[in-house]
Amino acid sequence: MPAIPRPREADARRIAEDFERFRDGLPRPLEPYVFDTYGVDLGSEYAGLRVKNPFGKASGQLSLARHQVERDAESGLGFVILKTVIAQDSGGERSMREWAIPETRMLVEPIRGRLGRDGWTVTWKGRGWFDTFHAYRDFFDQALRLGQAADMLVAPSVKYHLPGVEETAWKREEYDFTTSRLLEVWSQHYGDRPMPLEKDFSPTLAGSERATQQARIAEWFEAVPSLIHRAAPGRVRVGLKMFNALFEDEFQLRMLDTIHSAQPGEGRTDFLVYGNRLFDPARKFEDKLGVAYGGPDLSDRNLAVLERFRFARSRPPGLPAQSAAREDALPLSATGDIHSGRIAIEYLLRGASSFQMHTLFQLPNGAFSMRVGSKTEKCLHHLLFHPEDGAIAWLLDLQRRFVWKPEMNIDKKAQWCQQHWAAVAEQLSLPDNQANG
Ligand SMILES: Cc1cc2nc3c(=O)[nH]c(=O)nc-3n(C[C@H](O)[C@H](O)[C@H](O)COP(=O)(O)O)c2cc1C
Repeated sequence: MPAIPRPREADARRIAEDFERFRDGLPRPLEPYVFDTYGVDLGSEYAGLRVKNPFGKASGQLSLARHQVERDAESGLGFVILKTVIAQDSGGERSMREWAIPETRMLVEPIRGRLGRDGWTVTWKGRGWFDTFHAYRDFFDQALRLGQAADMLVAPSVKYHLPGVEETAWKREEYDFTTSRLLEVWSQHYGDRPMPLEKDFSPTLAGSERATQQARIAEWFEAVPSLIHRAAPGRVRVGLKMFNALFEDEFQLRMLDTIHSAQPGEGRTDFLVYGNRLFDPARKFEDKLGVAYGGPDLSDRNLAVLERFRFARSRPPGLPAQSAAREDALPLSATGDIHSGRIAIEYLLRGASSFQMHTLFQLPNGAFSMRVGSKTEKCLHHLLFHPEDGAIAWLLDLQRRFVWKPEMNIDKKAQWCQQHWAAVAEQLSLPDNQANG
């Protein structure tokens, strides 16, 4: 995309004024303000369920306690994915228990990407939820209550059994027990509505023995949706949170193809979360060799893979670019170095209808312009109202270029981008001085 957004002059002035004004507090309620002032409908979808705005908290250390969810609900976040719990069977057995280790120190530090851009990464040694499954269910219950009162969607995240190199069998009981027990909690709040659930394929898997064989990883993606769906037919929307494996980009593309090629039915994934952090087997943190990391290389890689998946891969040879849209594209929630509205919009152009952040919420207060409020409010202020990097400025810029109808919310815009990939690709490759006429 060009370096600077070019909304209409009056809008650009208004955004600059609002950015300054809201340093002392966001407008409430947020979404109606944005719609009335700019004609931008922030409503969207996550896992096929409505969210009031597309910005959410990705699963992790900032969504494992009640007070964190409470603060996010008050601050106006669109959705929260809870910390990943390790699946268990009815006897309490957890085959992935090595992922249930407690958090130690977390280090937030600057990182420079390969192309020379600066960003942030978080390094730590913890993994999944460390308390009991019973405690997780209680937490899920509280989080749903808080979320519902504030119109903020809450979803659980689970790491289920994945067979390793020597294993052939799947521990179905872990899938059945964990899914059905989480669904019980969800149903107390949402009745028959299907429960969104993220299956976490974490970046640390990339460094584990389990993920050394490409064919084995492909098997995981083929089998997991059925195993979860079968635990509660028709009741769960299964989202696969994909990891960046240690193999080359071609492999990521093959994984995306595998997931998309499943026939409708229980084997079909309902939505994708793309893509979790990179893994560096040679990097050391304290006494541990091999760590996950983020920053500019993560968004560069994710955006490049999604772009290839949407365009080059999906265009049958000989057909014009207009035929490039994949009919079977799954709903997409983006994650990975979303540190500005601009990067969120880069993901939107590749078909994402919601944006989940972790690292952004961990940055020091000095990284934000807002003077008061919670970290979540500071993030929303930055993500939405920044005059050059904010989502409103970019959405208005794109509205002019693509002639989007004002009634299209974020989800409709994401769908439009999937269907008009040729127009999107053209804009992505325009040099700055030609963009926007
Ligand atoms: C400290 C930390 C803990 C995380 N824990 C989880 C987790 O339990 N489950 C999960 O699916 N992702 C986890 N993630 C990944 C994030 O949810 C997110 O997808 C990823 O960090 C990319 O987003 P970011 O660049 O905004 O951080 C964690 C990330 C960090 C930095």
